[in-house]
Amino acid sequence: MLIRRCAALFVEPREDLDVDWAALFSGRGAIGATVQWIALAPHLGQEVVVDAADLAALGGVSLTLWQEREACESQFGADAIARLLKSGLLLSDAPEGAAVRQRDEVLRSQHWRPLSATVHMFSRWADMRVDKGMQFPSFEELVDNYGTPPGPTINRRSDDSAINLPPPERARLDDTLFHRYTGRNFDPAAVLPLATASRLLQRAFGAQGQREMAPDAYVLKKLSPSAGGLHPTEVYVLAQRVQGIAPGLYHYQPVRHALEPLTEMAPADTEELALRMVADQDWFQPAPMLVVLVTRVERNFWKYRNHAKAYRAVLLDAGHLSQTFYLLATEAGMPAFVTAAVNEVDIERALGLDPLKDMVVAVCGCGPASGAQNTVELRYEP
Ligand SMILES: Cc1cc2nc3c(=O)[nH]c(=O)nc-3n(C[C@H](O)[C@H](O)[C@H](O)COP(=O)(O)O)c2cc1C
Repeated sequence: MLIRRCAALFVEPREDLDVDWAALFSGRGAIGATVQWIALAPHLGQEVVVDAADLAALGGVSLTLWQEREACESQFGADAIARLLKSGLLLSDAPEGAAVRQRDEVLRSQHWRPLSATVHMFSRWADMRVDKGMQFPSFEELVDNYGTPPGPTINRRSDDSAINLPPPERARLDDTLFHRYTGRNFDPAAVLPLATASRLLQRAFGAQGQREMAPDAYVLKKLSPSAGGLHPTEVYVLAQRVQGIAPGLYHYQPVRHALEPLTEMAPADTEELALRMVADQDWFQPAPMLVVLVTRVERNFWKYRNHAKAYRAVLLDAGHLSQTFYLLATEAGMPAFVTAAVNEVDIERALGLDPLKDMVVAVCGCGPASGAQNTVELRYEP
């Protein structure tokens, strides 16, 4: 049997502090610290506890060359090799190792930077809910717990050398910029007119043109910037109440400007999914249209392969798209929202996405405001 190490792996010496009740009652030191090695391998997507013998093997077995298992066993011990094969940190060419080997192949084929893949895979949430640990503390509670926050801005000069600039002139964009705000009080009965949804999707996410930069190498022109002009962000729509569109999940095709139906749903099911997607943030759930931003990483990593800045760049891309979406919603007289507090794993399941290829980044949404102020909003007050 031939074996090699998985492509990406980081090891964290993690410490857990616990109260030792027996020691406390016997008058000895009451806090115990457990330190253990945690292996973080993105192709597995779950943590593995390893020991010093495992670490020696992981540090010694090649991640590129396939080696004879017996040779590795004689160097690092048969037990350690067996354990690591079982956990999927080592890969084999045997049929029983095919599933985990295939996950590792997917990771390799996407040209992930190993550290970025690890951050991505281990920062996803599954079924996160308020009653499971997701919390929304108020500013008052935060100040009670942490003291006052660092000031809202800084001065780099204490003398009077700062050059005061003239006040900005009013201009056309101002109307939209000043009215933009994050909506948290959507009208739960409002239906989004099809014309509004169509304009929003096309101007925020649609292609305004296509250019062949080299033979068979196309870029899209959109109304937001994108690293390398690659526009790797795909858009999925959860239609709850969009005029003429059956409730359910769709993929937005940006060149055809069309919604590709994925799953038709009953209205109660879209509500359940919307709430789950935004990790129980019930102030976002009633928005008639939600939009999931998903980076198709191979599109960006095709150019920026194993690149230190690629992960940062694709996150910035999603941020630009969400701001354009906000501004278009504002222009249409509606608030919008963006949130990164999302249950990526649940969204991946609902949309049939592989997180090593398709990175769920954020959820946006928009719709008419109810007029109530049940949840705080930060509107511009002249
Ligand atoms: C990356 C990002 C993540 C956000 N996540 C949340 C969120 O989880 N919940 C929420 O209510 N608002 C979220 N917001 C909205 C911000 O709270 C909001 O932009 C901020 O309070 C300023 O208010 P404004 O957008 O109305 O100017 C997020 C905004 C950004 C840019």
